Amino acid sequence: MTEPASLPVVHTVADLRAVVRDWKRQGLTVGMVPTMGALHEGHLTLVREAGRRADRVVASNFVNPTQFAANEDLGRYPRRQEEDARLLAGAGCHLMFAPTPEEMYPQGFATSVAVAGPALGLEGDFRPQMFGGVALVVTKLFNQVQPDVAVFGEKDYQQLMVIRRFVRDLDLPVEIIGAPTQRDETGLALSSRNDYLSDAELAVARRLNVILAEAAAGAAAGRPLPGVERDAYSAILKAGFERIDYVAVRHAEDLSPFRDGVVDAPARILAAAWLGKTRLIDNRAV
Ligand code: PAJ
Repeated sequence: MTEPASLPVVHTVADLRAVVRDWKRQGLTVGMVPTMGALHEGHLTLVREAGRRADRVVASNFVNPTQFAANEDLGRYPRRQEEDARLLAGAGCHLMFAPTPEEMYPQGFATSVAVAGPALGLEGDFRPQMFGGVALVVTKLFNQVQPDVAVFGEKDYQQLMVIRRFVRDLDLPVEIIGAPTQRDETGLALSSRNDYLSDAELAVARRLNVILAEAAAGAAAGRPLPGVERDAYSAILKAGFERIDYVAVRHAEDLSPFRDGVVDAPARILAAAWLGKTRLIDNRAV
């Protein structure tokens, strides 16, 4: 085995465009994986998936300030770009785009992307500025890279649905691919924010996916949803989480609630809960 060659890294839109222009001139297709860095196996599976669907893969590495509220973890979000570049090279990525905040949001920046539909409720209730910030940065990244396909994880299920929606609504010429959540051997969804957890908190965190899987089975068997959600809520608190933002069963596509209180169409259970200062999210198909 030889070490993967070191990965080209560009920091400006001009340098990025020069590389992509050259690829396109050669008739190569381009896949993209947007990330905020602190990469783990979950991100790397997206890179491999992009590599199966396109000739060249660009991963962006940018902790996007516009999707964090003032009181959130922008400042302490883990940053390790050199290690990220090494991991990306090993996963078959061809280029890392790591812009500065000033490159993405120059002096005088004055534009926003407003999203509704699947952006309303759930995360939208507790992190009201997040999906607008995600839509803004992902729209910019798509305009900068002009990828043929882009891959996103089901880990951030609502985000994936929001992205599918604005890509369709704004006629952005990119195919959006959703990839399954990567989990550790206990089922805990891999997340850069797991870095914040102590060993004791990790043990609690590992219960979340189990509780969601049990609740999903109940919902799929036709149990009334108010009871399913209430039981899951109690179980998450009992497991040791301090606070729950939401736990809800929703329509899989547009994330609207089930009016009749039972699952009669494709559904997803989604949750967000707090362990100390760390907020974890997870979801499961019903
Ligand atoms: P980030 O949290 O770094 O995630 C980047 C991508 O990796 C997202 O599509 C996310 O769903 C996916 N991902 C994270 N953990 C995963 C796991 N365990 N299994 C599979 N995929 C996983 O999501 C963002 O960054 C940002 O909001 C971004 C889209 C980059 C915009 O700033």
